[in-house]
Amino acid sequence: MPSLLLLAGDGIGPEVMAATERVIDFFNRRGAGFELQRALVGGAAVDAEGDPVSDETLAIGESVDAMLFGAVGGPQYDGLPYEKRPEAGLLRLRKHFELFANIRPAICYPALADASSLKREVVEGLDIVILRELTGGVYFGEPKTIEDIGNGQKRAIDTQIYDTYEIDRIARAAFELARARNGRVTSMEKRNVMKTGVLWREVVEAAHKDGNEDVKLDHMLADSGAMQLVRDPKQFDVIVCDNLFGDLLSDIAAQLTGSLGMLPSASLGAVDSKTGRRRALYEPVHGSAPDIAGKGIANPIAMIASFGMALQYSFGMITEAKALDAAIAATLAEGLRTADIAHGAKAISTDEMTDAILGNLEKAL
Ligand code: IPM
Ligand code: MG
Repeated sequence: MPSLLLLAGDGIGPEVMAATERVIDFFNRRGAGFELQRALVGGAAVDAEGDPVSDETLAIGESVDAMLFGAVGGPQYDGLPYEKRPEAGLLRLRKHFELFANIRPAICYPALADASSLKREVVEGLDIVILRELTGGVYFGEPKTIEDIGNGQKRAIDTQIYDTYEIDRIARAAFELARARNGRVTSMEKRNVMKTGVLWREVVEAAHKDGNEDVKLDHMLADSGAMQLVRDPKQFDVIVCDNLFGDLLSDIAAQLTGSLGMLPSASLGAVDSKTGRRRALYEPVHGSAPDIAGKGIANPIAMIASFGMALQYSFGMITEAKALDAAIAATLAEGLRTADIAHGAKAISTDEMTDAILGNLEKAL
Protein backbone atom coordinates (compact mmCIF):
# COMPACT_ATOMS: atom_id res chain seq x y z
CA MET A 1 0.00 0.00 0.00
CA PRO A 2 1.29 3.52 -0.75
CA SER A 3 2.27 5.23 2.50
CA LEU A 4 2.57 8.86 3.53
CA LEU A 5 3.85 10.65 6.60
CA LEU A 6 1.99 13.91 7.25
CA LEU A 7 4.01 16.61 8.98
CA ALA A 8 1.57 19.47 9.41
CA GLY A 9 3.81 21.70 11.52
CA ASP A 10 2.87 25.18 12.76
CA GLY A 11 0.67 28.15 11.93
CA ILE A 12 -1.55 27.46 8.93
CA GLY A 13 0.28 24.14 8.38
CA PRO A 14 -2.37 22.03 10.19
CA GLU A 15 -5.19 23.83 8.34
CA VAL A 16 -3.82 23.31 4.84
CA MET A 17 -2.83 19.74 5.77
CA ALA A 18 -6.39 19.01 6.92
CA ALA A 19 -7.63 20.28 3.55
CA THR A 20 -5.13 18.02 1.79
CA GLU A 21 -6.24 15.03 3.88
CA ARG A 22 -9.71 15.52 2.44
CA VAL A 23 -8.18 15.22 -1.04
CA ILE A 24 -6.27 12.08 0.00
CA ASP A 25 -9.55 10.64 1.40
CA PHE A 26 -11.17 11.36 -1.94
CA PHE A 27 -8.59 9.18 -3.71
CA ASN A 28 -8.86 6.53 -0.99
CA ARG A 29 -12.61 6.30 -1.52
CA ARG A 30 -11.71 5.43 -5.10
CA GLY A 31 -9.35 2.69 -4.00
CA ALA A 32 -5.94 4.42 -3.90
CA GLY A 33 -5.26 2.92 -0.48
CA PHE A 34 -2.97 5.61 0.95
CA GLU A 35 -1.88 4.70 4.47
CA LEU A 36 -1.34 7.78 6.59
CA GLN A 37 0.85 8.39 9.60
CA ARG A 38 1.21 11.72 11.36
CA ALA A 39 4.02 13.30 13.35
CA LEU A 40 5.01 16.67 14.73
CA VAL A 41 7.55 19.03 13.22
CA GLY A 42 8.74 22.58 13.86
CA GLY A 43 7.59 24.54 16.90
CA ALA A 44 4.84 22.01 17.63
CA ALA A 45 7.54 19.33 17.93
CA VAL A 46 9.76 21.56 20.10
CA ASP A 47 6.84 22.12 22.47
CA ALA A 48 5.86 18.45 22.73
CA GLU A 49 9.11 16.57 22.13
CA GLY A 50 11.89 19.09 22.80
CA ASP A 51 13.24 18.98 19.24
CA PRO A 52 12.03 20.49 15.94
CA VAL A 53 12.10 16.98 14.49
CA SER A 54 12.65 13.91 16.66
CA ASP A 55 14.63 10.75 15.87
CA GLU A 56 11.36 8.79 16.06
CA THR A 57 9.84 11.02 13.40
CA LEU A 58 12.87 10.51 11.15
CA ALA A 59 12.47 6.75 11.66
CA ILE A 60 8.83 6.91 10.55
CA GLY A 61 10.00 8.95 7.57
CA GLU A 62 12.41 6.12 6.70
CA SER A 63 9.53 3.68 6.56
CA VAL A 64 7.14 5.54 4.25
CA ASP A 65 7.06 6.18 0.51
CA ALA A 66 6.78 9.96 0.83
CA MET A 67 6.30 12.79 3.30
CA LEU A 68 3.99 15.80 3.12
CA PHE A 69 5.14 18.86 5.02
CA GLY A 70 2.95 21.85 5.94
CA ALA A 71 4.87 24.81 7.34
CA VAL A 72 6.97 25.65 10.40
CA GLY A 73 7.71 28.67 12.56
CA GLY A 74 5.98 31.42 14.50
CA PRO A 75 6.85 34.47 16.59
CA GLN A 76 6.62 32.50 19.85
CA TYR A 77 9.69 30.52 18.78
CA ASP A 78 11.87 33.51 17.89
CA GLY A 79 13.88 33.31 21.12
CA LEU A 80 14.89 29.65 20.73
CA PRO A 81 18.55 28.73 20.26
CA TYR A 82 19.63 28.24 16.62
CA GLU A 83 19.48 24.40 16.74
CA LYS A 84 15.97 24.41 18.22
CA ARG A 85 14.43 26.81 15.73
CA PRO A 86 11.41 25.32 13.93
CA GLU A 87 13.28 25.85 10.62
CA ALA A 88 16.07 23.60 11.90
CA GLY A 89 13.55 20.74 11.74
CA LEU A 90 12.98 21.32 8.05
CA LEU A 91 16.71 21.59 7.35
CA ARG A 92 17.33 18.37 9.28
CA LEU A 93 14.70 16.54 7.24
CA ARG A 94 16.26 17.76 3.99
CA LYS A 95 19.75 16.74 5.10
CA HIS A 96 18.82 13.45 6.77
CA PHE A 97 17.01 12.15 3.69
CA GLU A 98 19.51 13.83 1.29
CA LEU A 99 16.72 15.57 -0.57
CA PHE A 100 19.11 17.38 -2.88
CA ALA A 101 16.72 18.22 -5.72
CA ASN A 102 14.06 20.79 -4.92
CA ILE A 103 11.61 21.23 -7.78
CA ARG A 104 9.69 24.50 -7.53
CA PRO A 105 7.33 25.04 -10.43
CA ALA A 106 5.99 28.54 -11.01
CA ILE A 107 2.80 28.38 -13.02
CA CYS A 108 0.62 31.40 -13.61
CA TYR A 109 -2.99 30.24 -13.81
CA PRO A 110 -4.74 32.37 -16.48
CA ALA A 111 -7.46 33.28 -13.95
CA LEU A 112 -4.84 34.80 -11.68
CA ALA A 113 -2.69 36.75 -14.14
CA ASP A 114 -4.06 40.01 -12.77
CA ALA A 115 -3.03 39.09 -9.21
CA SER A 116 0.65 39.31 -10.16
CA SER A 117 2.44 42.61 -9.58
CA LEU A 118 3.71 42.34 -13.15
CA LYS A 119 1.73 43.08 -16.30
CA ARG A 120 -0.64 40.36 -17.47
CA GLU A 121 1.23 39.88 -20.77
CA VAL A 122 4.52 39.30 -18.92
CA VAL A 123 3.18 36.48 -16.72
CA GLU A 124 0.10 35.02 -18.42
CA GLY A 125 0.79 31.40 -19.31
CA LEU A 126 4.04 31.35 -17.36
CA ASP A 127 5.23 27.78 -16.71
CA ILE A 128 8.78 27.51 -15.44
CA VAL A 129 10.62 25.43 -12.87
CA ILE A 130 13.28 26.50 -10.43
CA LEU A 131 15.43 23.49 -9.59
CA ARG A 132 17.17 24.37 -6.36
CA GLU A 133 20.08 22.39 -4.89
CA LEU A 134 18.85 21.71 -1.37
CA THR A 135 21.40 19.89 0.76
CA GLY A 136 24.63 21.81 0.19
CA GLY A 137 26.07 25.28 -0.08
CA VAL A 138 25.95 27.95 2.56
CA TYR A 139 22.97 26.36 4.33
CA PHE A 140 25.08 23.49 5.62
CA GLY A 141 28.76 24.42 5.06
CA GLU A 142 31.07 24.39 8.09
CA PRO A 143 32.34 26.42 9.83
CA LYS A 144 29.10 28.17 10.62
CA THR A 145 29.71 30.24 13.72
CA ILE A 146 29.57 33.55 15.49
CA GLU A 147 32.74 34.07 17.53
CA ASP A 148 34.05 36.75 19.82
CA ILE A 149 37.18 38.32 18.40
CA GLY A 150 37.81 40.81 21.18
CA ASN A 151 37.48 44.61 21.34
CA GLY A 152 33.72 44.23 21.48
CA GLN A 153 33.75 42.69 18.01
CA LYS A 154 32.16 39.49 16.88
CA ARG A 155 32.74 37.59 13.67
CA ALA A 156 30.00 35.62 11.89
CA ILE A 157 31.00 32.94 9.43
CA ASP A 158 28.91 30.99 6.95
CA THR A 159 30.67 28.71 4.51
CA GLN A 160 29.66 28.07 0.92
CA ILE A 161 30.94 24.65 -0.15
CA TYR A 162 30.15 22.55 -3.23
CA ASP A 163 31.76 19.29 -4.26
CA THR A 164 31.75 18.04 -7.84
CA TYR A 165 29.25 15.24 -7.15
CA GLU A 166 26.72 17.63 -5.65
CA ILE A 167 26.76 19.89 -8.70
CA ASP A 168 26.82 16.96 -11.11
CA ARG A 169 23.71 15.28 -9.69
CA ILE A 170 21.62 18.47 -9.61
CA ALA A 171 22.74 19.35 -13.16
CA ARG A 172 21.68 15.90 -14.39
CA ALA A 173 18.35 16.27 -12.58
CA ALA A 174 17.88 19.58 -14.43
CA PHE A 175 18.53 18.01 -17.82
CA GLU A 176 16.12 15.17 -17.07
CA LEU A 177 13.44 17.62 -15.96
CA ALA A 178 13.92 19.83 -19.02
CA ARG A 179 13.73 16.84 -21.35
CA ALA A 180 10.16 16.19 -20.13
CA ARG A 181 9.32 19.88 -20.66
CA ASN A 182 10.65 22.34 -23.23
CA GLY A 183 14.23 21.09 -23.35
CA ARG A 184 16.00 24.16 -21.99
CA VAL A 185 18.13 24.66 -18.88
CA THR A 186 19.52 27.96 -17.59
CA SER A 187 22.20 27.53 -14.95
CA MET A 188 22.73 30.48 -12.61
CA GLU A 189 25.74 31.17 -10.39
CA LYS A 190 28.18 33.96 -9.53
CA ARG A 191 31.37 32.74 -11.15
CA ASN A 192 32.61 36.32 -11.34
CA VAL A 193 33.08 36.45 -7.54
CA MET A 194 32.64 32.95 -6.14
CA LYS A 195 34.86 29.90 -6.50
CA THR A 196 31.79 27.72 -6.05
CA GLY A 197 30.36 29.55 -9.07
CA VAL A 198 33.44 28.72 -11.14
CA LEU A 199 33.20 25.02 -10.25
CA TRP A 200 29.41 25.08 -10.66
CA ARG A 201 29.66 26.18 -14.28
CA GLU A 202 32.49 23.78 -15.05
CA VAL A 203 30.62 20.75 -13.69
CA VAL A 204 27.29 21.72 -15.29
CA GLU A 205 29.10 22.02 -18.65
CA ALA A 206 30.72 18.61 -18.20
CA ALA A 207 27.41 16.96 -17.26
CA HIS A 208 25.85 18.57 -20.33
CA LYS A 209 28.52 17.18 -22.65
CA ASP A 210 28.10 13.75 -21.08
CA GLY A 211 24.93 12.59 -22.82
CA ASN A 212 22.73 15.64 -22.31
CA GLU A 213 23.42 17.75 -25.37
CA ASP A 214 19.87 17.24 -26.63
CA VAL A 215 18.91 19.77 -23.94
CA LYS A 216 19.82 23.41 -24.63
CA LEU A 217 22.02 24.83 -21.88
CA ASP A 218 22.59 28.51 -21.10
CA HIS A 219 24.41 30.22 -18.23
CA MET A 220 23.58 33.45 -16.46
CA LEU A 221 25.09 35.28 -13.55
CA ALA A 222 22.54 34.94 -10.77
CA ASP A 223 22.06 38.70 -10.26
CA SER A 224 21.38 39.25 -13.92
CA GLY A 225 19.22 36.11 -13.89
CA ALA A 226 17.10 37.61 -11.12
CA MET A 227 16.61 40.71 -13.25
CA GLN A 228 15.71 38.63 -16.33
CA LEU A 229 13.24 36.64 -14.23
CA VAL A 230 11.32 39.82 -13.52
CA ARG A 231 11.82 41.39 -16.97
CA ASP A 232 10.79 38.43 -19.11
CA PRO A 233 10.14 35.27 -17.08
CA LYS A 234 8.70 33.33 -20.01
CA GLN A 235 12.15 33.12 -21.63
CA PHE A 236 12.99 30.34 -19.12
CA ASP A 237 12.11 26.67 -18.91
CA VAL A 238 14.20 25.10 -16.12
CA ILE A 239 16.49 27.26 -13.98
CA VAL A 240 19.08 25.34 -11.95
CA CYS A 241 21.01 26.95 -9.13
CA ASP A 242 22.54 26.47 -5.71
CA ASN A 243 20.71 26.41 -2.41
CA LEU A 244 20.82 30.12 -1.51
CA PHE A 245 20.23 31.50 -5.00
CA GLY A 246 17.39 28.99 -5.34
CA ASP A 247 15.82 30.25 -2.14
CA LEU A 248 15.84 33.82 -3.47
CA LEU A 249 14.92 33.11 -7.07
CA SER A 250 12.04 30.83 -6.13
CA ASP A 251 10.46 33.57 -4.03
CA ILE A 252 10.71 35.90 -7.03
CA ALA A 253 9.18 33.23 -9.23
CA ALA A 254 6.40 32.77 -6.68
CA GLN A 255 5.49 36.43 -6.79
CA LEU A 256 5.30 36.30 -10.59
CA THR A 257 2.41 33.86 -10.27
CA GLY A 258 0.31 36.15 -8.11
CA SER A 259 0.51 34.40 -4.77
CA LEU A 260 2.92 32.48 -2.65
CA GLY A 261 -0.16 30.55 -1.53
CA MET A 262 -0.26 28.82 -4.90
CA LEU A 263 3.15 27.21 -5.20
CA PRO A 264 3.90 23.57 -4.42
CA SER A 265 7.33 21.98 -4.30
CA ALA A 266 8.95 18.57 -4.30
CA SER A 267 12.24 17.74 -2.63
CA LEU A 268 13.68 14.52 -3.99
CA GLY A 269 16.63 12.32 -3.13
CA ALA A 270 18.51 9.91 -5.34
CA VAL A 271 16.88 6.65 -6.43
CA ASP A 272 17.83 3.97 -3.91
CA SER A 273 19.47 1.16 -5.89
CA LYS A 274 18.17 -1.49 -3.45
CA THR A 275 14.54 -0.44 -3.04
CA GLY A 276 14.14 1.51 -6.29
CA ARG A 277 12.51 4.15 -4.14
CA ARG A 278 13.26 7.81 -4.13
CA ARG A 279 13.08 9.68 -0.85
CA ALA A 280 10.68 12.57 -1.15
CA LEU A 281 9.22 15.43 0.84
CA TYR A 282 6.49 17.60 -0.63
CA GLU A 283 5.89 21.05 0.75
CA PRO A 284 4.20 24.31 -0.17
CA VAL A 285 6.63 27.17 -0.79
CA HIS A 286 4.68 29.45 1.56
CA GLY A 287 5.42 29.65 5.27
CA SER A 288 3.35 29.25 8.43
CA ALA A 289 1.60 32.67 8.11
CA PRO A 290 1.06 33.12 11.88
CA ASP A 291 -1.01 36.28 11.27
CA ILE A 292 -3.86 34.29 9.72
CA ALA A 293 -3.36 30.95 11.51
CA GLY A 294 -6.45 29.46 13.15
CA LYS A 295 -8.87 31.64 11.20
CA GLY A 296 -9.77 29.04 8.59
CA ILE A 297 -8.92 31.40 5.73
CA ALA A 298 -5.56 30.05 4.50
CA ASN A 299 -5.21 29.14 0.85
CA PRO A 300 -4.90 25.33 0.70
CA ILE A 301 -3.90 25.23 -2.98
CA ALA A 302 -0.10 25.05 -2.56
CA MET A 303 -0.41 22.17 -0.09
CA ILE A 304 -2.95 20.32 -2.21
CA ALA A 305 -0.81 20.87 -5.32
CA SER A 306 2.20 19.55 -3.35
CA PHE A 307 0.24 16.34 -2.81
CA GLY A 308 -0.38 16.47 -6.59
CA MET A 309 3.39 16.46 -7.10
CA ALA A 310 3.59 13.42 -4.80
CA LEU A 311 1.03 11.66 -7.00
CA GLN A 312 3.27 12.39 -9.96
CA TYR A 313 6.78 11.85 -8.63
CA SER A 314 6.34 9.26 -5.84
CA PHE A 315 3.34 7.27 -6.95
CA GLY A 316 3.33 7.49 -10.75
CA MET A 317 -0.38 8.43 -10.63
CA ILE A 318 -0.11 10.78 -13.59
CA THR A 319 -3.80 10.80 -14.56
CA GLU A 320 -4.79 11.63 -10.99
CA ALA A 321 -2.10 14.32 -10.73
CA LYS A 322 -3.31 15.96 -13.94
CA ALA A 323 -6.94 15.77 -12.80
CA LEU A 324 -6.02 17.48 -9.53
CA ASP A 325 -4.20 20.29 -11.38
CA ALA A 326 -7.18 20.67 -13.70
CA ALA A 327 -9.54 20.80 -10.70
CA ILE A 328 -7.49 23.61 -9.14
CA ALA A 329 -7.41 25.55 -12.42
CA ALA A 330 -11.16 25.08 -12.89
CA THR A 331 -11.88 26.29 -9.36
CA LEU A 332 -9.85 29.44 -9.96
CA ALA A 333 -11.54 29.95 -13.32
CA GLU A 334 -14.89 29.95 -11.51
CA GLY A 335 -13.65 33.03 -9.70
CA LEU A 336 -13.33 31.39 -6.29
CA ARG A 337 -10.64 33.05 -4.18
CA THR A 338 -9.22 32.76 -0.69
CA ALA A 339 -8.30 36.07 0.96
CA ASP A 340 -4.67 36.06 -0.22
CA ILE A 341 -5.73 36.16 -3.87
CA ALA A 342 -9.09 37.92 -3.56
CA HIS A 343 -7.75 41.49 -3.95
CA GLY A 344 -10.77 43.04 -2.35
CA ALA A 345 -13.30 40.69 -3.94
CA LYS A 346 -15.33 38.25 -1.84
CA ALA A 347 -13.07 35.67 -0.20
CA ILE A 348 -14.00 32.11 0.70
CA SER A 349 -12.65 29.95 3.53
CA THR A 350 -10.09 27.13 3.41
CA ASP A 351 -12.94 24.60 3.68
CA GLU A 352 -14.99 26.21 0.93
CA MET A 353 -11.99 26.29 -1.40
CA THR A 354 -11.35 22.62 -0.65
CA ASP A 355 -15.03 21.76 -1.25
CA ALA A 356 -14.85 23.45 -4.64
CA ILE A 357 -11.62 21.68 -5.63
CA LEU A 358 -13.12 18.32 -4.60
CA GLY A 359 -16.25 19.08 -6.62
CA ASN A 360 -14.17 19.81 -9.71
CA LEU A 361 -12.00 16.76 -9.07
CA GLU A 362 -15.09 14.60 -9.08
CA LYS A 363 -15.94 16.04 -12.52
CA ALA A 364 -12.37 15.75 -13.83
CA LEU A 365 -12.00 12.04 -13.09
C1 IPM B 1 12.21 27.79 1.84
C2 IPM B 1 12.29 28.49 3.17
C3 IPM B 1 13.35 27.77 4.01
C4 IPM B 1 14.68 27.94 3.33
C5 IPM B 1 13.40 28.23 5.47
C6 IPM B 1 12.07 28.10 6.16
C7 IPM B 1 14.46 27.48 6.24
O1 IPM B 1 12.58 29.84 2.99
O2 IPM B 1 11.94 26.58 1.82
O3 IPM B 1 12.40 28.45 0.82
O4 IPM B 1 15.37 28.95 3.51
O5 IPM B 1 15.07 27.02 2.61
MG1 MG C 1 12.57 30.46 0.95
